Amino acid sequence: TAINRFRVVEVGARDGLQAEKKFVPTEIKVELIDRLSECGFQTVETTSFVSPKWVPQLADHNEIVKKHRRFEGVSYPVLVPNAAGLKNALATGVVEEIAVFGAASDAFSLKNVNSNVEDSLKKLMEVTKIALENNIRVRGYVSVVVGCPYQGAVQPEMVARVAEKLLESGCYEVSLGDTIGVGTVKTVSKMLDTVLKSVPAEKLAVHFHDTYGQALANVLISIEKGIRSADSSIAGLGGCPYAKGATGNLATEDLLYFLKGNGFETGVNLDKVVETAKWFNEAAGYDKWSRVGAAMMAK
Ligand code: HMG
Ligand code: MG
Repeated sequence: TAINRFRVVEVGARDGLQAEKKFVPTEIKVELIDRLSECGFQTVETTSFVSPKWVPQLADHNEIVKKHRRFEGVSYPVLVPNAAGLKNALATGVVEEIAVFGAASDAFSLKNVNSNVEDSLKKLMEVTKIALENNIRVRGYVSVVVGCPYQGAVQPEMVARVAEKLLESGCYEVSLGDTIGVGTVKTVSKMLDTVLKSVPAEKLAVHFHDTYGQALANVLISIEKGIRSADSSIAGLGGCPYAKGATGNLATEDLLYFLKGNGFETGVNLDKVVETAKWFNEAAGYDKWSRVGAAMMAK
């Protein structure tokens, strides 16, 4: 029988920690990344080479990428907003994959990267070009794919256009982000149908924040449309500091339970992820739990 493979991209160390009020100590972040590597993910996003003035929580990016272990077969993308960030990432000598991020609304783009969509696309296409010349793989994000905290509804055509540009410029995959988690099956379907007219499902991932509890329903509809890659964050940590009302990502534990229960193979060990969440809560002084993690701990 054919194996139904699904790739889960763990973004907790980056998306999860970028919006936290307190600064999580570097050693804890490094251990979190190493423990996540042991869970079996193929992709573990680790940090952001953004301005420390904009995202002080990840100001320790240089140390992070140098200190965490690198497991065979695991890639460790770092977020890069501009040429300065790429230069710093390259200077570490250890970064092999970056993620660039665009958006589908000018209002959000201006708040997030201080440029409108058009200008930001130009910058990130240049970043992608230089990265590829340096043999760095590039993943792309499009943010606010269904709703924008400053502008409201977002045109699916705009999402398609940004996704196309990212792929044309050489991203191996584009992750579609519902940054503030407002999408429902209806709005996500409409958006995906539009994007899929010009972009194949194999080149897409989905990135749902679970703010309104719609994330798994939206993953299901994405699967029905052929997508086999999704981003999630351990214990549902996360948010975007430049998106009012953005809360945690879809929790990895909830996604893994859902995928396994529906016949998908991810290669990730759910028990280990729950153990890692438990360790992280104790080490960092948190009490954040996914639904599945809480249920498994209560047994
Ligand atoms: P700016 O202020 O327009 O940039 O910010 P600038 O070029 O004028 O530089 C301002 C200062 O920052 C300068 O320092 C630069 O050197 C420095 P100063 O001269 O004042 O001392 N600087 C940098 N330092 C370190 N690394 C850099 C860097 N760039 C400039 N890379 C900028 C523009 C893009 C830098 C800023 O807006 C920024 O860092 N934004 C990042 C915001 C962010 O990280 N947002 C969250 C990630 S996106 C997200 O979460 C969504 C996602 O999860 C998907 C989804 O959910 O939809 C991916
Ligand atoms: Mg996000």
